[in-house]
Amino acid sequence: MAAHFPLLHAPPSFSTKTLRIYTFKPTSPSSFSYPTRHKGLHGLSTITCSSSNGGEPESVDSSIKNVEKQLEEKRRAELSSRIASGEFTVEQSGFPSVVKRSLSKLGVPSAILEFLLSWVDAHEECLKIPEAKGAIGAMRSEAFFIPLYELYLTYGGIFRLNFGPKSFLIVSDPSIAKHILRENSKAYSKGILAEILEFVMGTGLIPADGEVWRIRRRAIVPALHLKYVAAMINLFGQATDRLCKKLDAAASDGEDVEMESLFSRLTLDIIGKAVFNYDFDSLTNDTGIVEAVYTVLREAEDRSVAPIPVWEIPIWKDISPRQKKVSAALKLINDILDDLIAMCKRMVDEEELQFHEEYVNEQDPSILHFLLASGDDVSSKQLRDDLMTMLIAGHETSAAVLTWTFYLLSKEPSVMSKLQEEVDSVLGDWFPRIEDMKKLKYATRVINESMRLYPQPPVLIRRSLEDDVLGEYPIKSSDW
Ligand code: HEM
Repeated sequence: MAAHFPLLHAPPSFSTKTLRIYTFKPTSPSSFSYPTRHKGLHGLSTITCSSSNGGEPESVDSSIKNVEKQLEEKRRAELSSRIASGEFTVEQSGFPSVVKRSLSKLGVPSAILEFLLSWVDAHEECLKIPEAKGAIGAMRSEAFFIPLYELYLTYGGIFRLNFGPKSFLIVSDPSIAKHILRENSKAYSKGILAEILEFVMGTGLIPADGEVWRIRRRAIVPALHLKYVAAMINLFGQATDRLCKKLDAAASDGEDVEMESLFSRLTLDIIGKAVFNYDFDSLTNDTGIVEAVYTVLREAEDRSVAPIPVWEIPIWKDISPRQKKVSAALKLINDILDDLIAMCKRMVDEEELQFHEEYVNEQDPSILHFLLASGDDVSSKQLRDDLMTMLIAGHETSAAVLTWTFYLLSKEPSVMSKLQEEVDSVLGDWFPRIEDMKKLKYATRVINESMRLYPQPPVLIRRSLEDDVLGEYPIKSSDW
């Protein structure tokens, strides 16, 4: 059986109904309302979150939300107590376990049990990873990192989770995660993640392993040099200004807006320009291409939680209306990417600029332009996979971080006003420049804290390729 290691970042305790998870999907806290006019170019006015429990006038809407919240809390409390009661625990079968359970049933206090059995335990039990079995019903009814977090509180930083025939090692201990991701990363591949994302990202950097990953990373990283970042910051300012104007208009009309969707559009617009110089303009328009991007994203998300990979049945993609829609969306995006690559190639052929380390084409400072100008010897298919990977990886994660950060700010007015003061004093009345970024110290801390509380993506996945030792547990790749 293949081993998968979701590396779980523990989320804080919270209760809101709309949280969902996917490996590279943002998890949204809820919708926000942005009710008042923002001050000046960069000012942010009071933002309230529709799921927050303070400050909103009592209305039918908020009463319904309160009831939903209470139900949600009740459901989570029930799940916690089911986990704590051992309902999901797989019994260890060794002799010490049997003795321990029997003595425990006779009422022997656990401290005495631990002491008496520590010498036997030391040899037989310490090498057994705690084991939990997943009740798919309980897991599927909500974002799966919520029950994973509850299981983590009971079973600790590493435990095994069995889902029918599938088995996962869930790791949330930071030192074990570091070992897997960094110190011994060659012993692991992206596994199931690469398989799920193959249809959209091919061998882009996120799903790629080994040699392909090494080569593409070496080609892409130099594109992100200081001058590129400086050019991009200006772009961020322009796109954000468009969003602010939209929010201003909504505020003056007293209209509620759904911030996750607006942040997704903002980051889609930025990524399109930054990566391949394409203006999705999704904040203003709902074009076919924007819908196509979301169709593909939702499909990747659904495939990651589907119990049966029906899309692998050859005839399925020709008869299922949904799969036909996904294929059409993919074709549309790929055609546009192919056109952009061809157009950019022509621009590079015609330009007289010499390529150097900090090369930037003023008219088109995109990563695609850098890659083509560098003379990178790469197939169009690989280039397309790289662009698609950056589009998806960059857009969803950034939107999720923004959404969570503003959700948290809506709950902490004092932090919000301190942040507002810093932004006003550092940025004055101009769009942010690279030299301003270092001065936004409090803003950086706010974003870091938001990412600590709600990391994006919340779960990383790996498959073991070689035997290894994780914490105190030896693991065999053949067992997984
Ligand atoms: C706040 C925003 C972002 C967050 C929180 C974030 C988070 C992450 C994380 C956790 C990974 C590691 C995934 C794994 O190894 O399984 C990753 C990888 C990656 N991200 Fe991001 N990301 C963000 C923004 C972006 C942007 C804007 C882009 C592209 C323009 C991007 C492109 C990538 C790529 C290409 C990889 C694969 C890197 C490699 O394996 O060498 N990300 N990101």
